[in-house]
Amino acid sequence: MLFESFDLVSALATLAACLVSMALLLAVSQQLWQLRWTATRDKSCKLPMPKGSMGFPIIGETCHWLFQGSGFHASRRQKYGNVFKTHLLGRPLIRVTGAENVRKVLMGEHNLVTVDWPQSTSTLLGPNSLANSIGDIHRKRRKVFAKVFSHEALESYLPKIQQVIQETLRVWSSNPEPVNVYRESQRLSFHMAVRVLLGFRVSDEEMRHLFNTFQEFVDNVFSLPIDLPFTGYRKGIRARDTLQKGIEKAIREKPLCTQGKDYSDALDVLIESAKENGAELTMQELKESTIELIFAAFATTASASTSLIMQLLRHPAVLEKLREELRGRGILQNGCLCEGELRLENICSLKYLDCVIKEVLRLFTPVSGGYRTAVQTFELDGVQIPKGWSVMYSIRDTHDTSAVFKDVDAFDPDRFSQERSEDKEGRFHYLPFGGGVRNCLGKQLATLFLRVLAIELAGSSRFELATRTFPRIITVPVLHPTDGLKVKFYGLDSNQNEIMAKSDEMLGATV
Ligand code: HEM
Repeated sequence: MLFESFDLVSALATLAACLVSMALLLAVSQQLWQLRWTATRDKSCKLPMPKGSMGFPIIGETCHWLFQGSGFHASRRQKYGNVFKTHLLGRPLIRVTGAENVRKVLMGEHNLVTVDWPQSTSTLLGPNSLANSIGDIHRKRRKVFAKVFSHEALESYLPKIQQVIQETLRVWSSNPEPVNVYRESQRLSFHMAVRVLLGFRVSDEEMRHLFNTFQEFVDNVFSLPIDLPFTGYRKGIRARDTLQKGIEKAIREKPLCTQGKDYSDALDVLIESAKENGAELTMQELKESTIELIFAAFATTASASTSLIMQLLRHPAVLEKLREELRGRGILQNGCLCEGELRLENICSLKYLDCVIKEVLRLFTPVSGGYRTAVQTFELDGVQIPKGWSVMYSIRDTHDTSAVFKDVDAFDPDRFSQERSEDKEGRFHYLPFGGGVRNCLGKQLATLFLRVLAIELAGSSRFELATRTFPRIITVPVLHPTDGLKVKFYGLDSNQNEIMAKSDEMLGATV
C-alpha cells in the first residue's frame, strides 16, 4: 500500500516536472521566436519595429486568428496601434490600418511595395495573370484590360446582365424552399462571368460541370504548395487544367457563336484591345486572363450580392425609398419594371441606389485587404517596415475605424448623399475596391451588376427571411453569413400579386 502511494506520488512529481519543463521550453522557444523576428529589423534605420506578437514558433498567431475571427485584428489594433506585426498562415506580416497609412502603401506600389500572393495562388493563376505582373508589364496589361470595362463595353453587357439576373430571380421564386442566398449568389456571379463577360454559350450540364470545377479551383487557390497526390495544391492544379481545356474549347468555338449576336462580350473586347495595343494575346494568355477575371469577380460579387439582399431585408424603409426613386424616374410603373428603361445612363443617374450600394460595400466590404511585400525599408506611423516583410493593407478595419463616418456601425445610405458626402472628407477612408495602380479593374462592372440586382429585387420580387433571426456574419475567406442567408422569394405578376402562394410557416421579415 505504502509502495503504491509512493509510486503515485513519484508519477505525479514526474508529470509535474515534465509539465514545468515543457512550459519552460515553450516560454524559451517563444522568446527565441520573438527575437528571431526582431533581428530582421533594418539596423541602418533608427526607427523601432512595429509592436505586436509573433505568437508561437511556426504557427505564430494563426490559431488566435482562426478562433477570434475579425475580433483578432481589432484586439491587436487596440493593443498595439494601427501598424502592428503578427505571424499568420506561416508568414510574418505587418498589418496596416488607417487612411493615411494605407495611402502610403498603395501609392508606393512598385517603389516601396510590390504584390505578394501566396505561392499557390501565383502558380495557379499563371505567369501571364495581372496578379503576377509588376512594373511596366503590369501597366501594359492593365491598358489592354481597361477597354473591357469601358463605358461602351458596359453598355453592351447590360442587356445580358439583366437577363441573367431575371432568370436567376425566376428560378429562386419558383423554388418552394428557402434559397441559400450566398451559395446561389456564387452561382449567379459565375453565370454572369461565363455568359456576360466571356460570351460562352454552354449547356446547363456543361455550366454545372464548369461551376463545380471552378469551385474546386477556388477552394485550393490558397493552399500549401505541396504537389503530391491528394493535396489541395494538386487538386487546384487539376481543376485549373480542366478549366483551361474547357475554356480553350469555348474560345475556339466562339466565332461560330457570335453570329447573330447583338452585343460584344469582354473576351471579344479583350482580343480587339490587345490587337490595338500591338500585343496580340496567345491562347495561353487568353486562358489565364479568363480564369483570372472569373476568379476576381466570383467571391467578391457573390458576397456583395448577399449583403445587399440582407440589408434590403433588414431595412424595409430603404427598399421603399429605392422603389420611390424608381417610380420617380419612370422605371417602375404600376409595380412593374418598364421594358427598355434600364439603360446605363438611367441606372447611373439613380442617386439613392448609388448610396445604397456604396453603404453595403462600406459596412460589408467583401475584400478585407491586399497583400504586398516591402521592396525597401520605409517609415510608417513612426515605425519601420523592414525590406522583405509582408504588409497587408486593411480595407475593412480602415472603414470600421474611420472618423469621417458618423455612427460608423449604422447602415445609413444617406451618408453618401450629395448633402453629406462623408466619403469625400478625405481619400482612402473609403476603399472597397482598393486604390493606387492596382485598384479593382472590375469595379464599374461590379457596381453595375449590384445596381441591376437591386432594381430587379425592388421591382419584381417579394422576399422574406426564412429564419427567426438574421445570421451572424463571418469574414473568412470573404465576408458572408454563417448559414448563407436563407430567404424565401416570391415572384410578382403584373398586378403585384405573388405568383407563388405564401406559406404560413414562413417566419421573419417580409419586404
Ligand atoms: C463587389 C465586387 C468587387 C470587389 C469588392 C472587388 C475588390 C477588389 C480589390 C479590393 C482589389 C485590389 C486588391 C489589392 O489591392 O491587392 C481588386 C482587384 C482586382 N479586381 Fe476586383 N472587386 C470586385 C469585383 C470585381 C470584378 C467583377 C472583376 C472583373 C470581372 C474584378 C477584377 C479585378 C482585377 C482584375 C483586379 C486586379 C487588378 C490589378 O492587379 O491590377 N473585380 N478588386
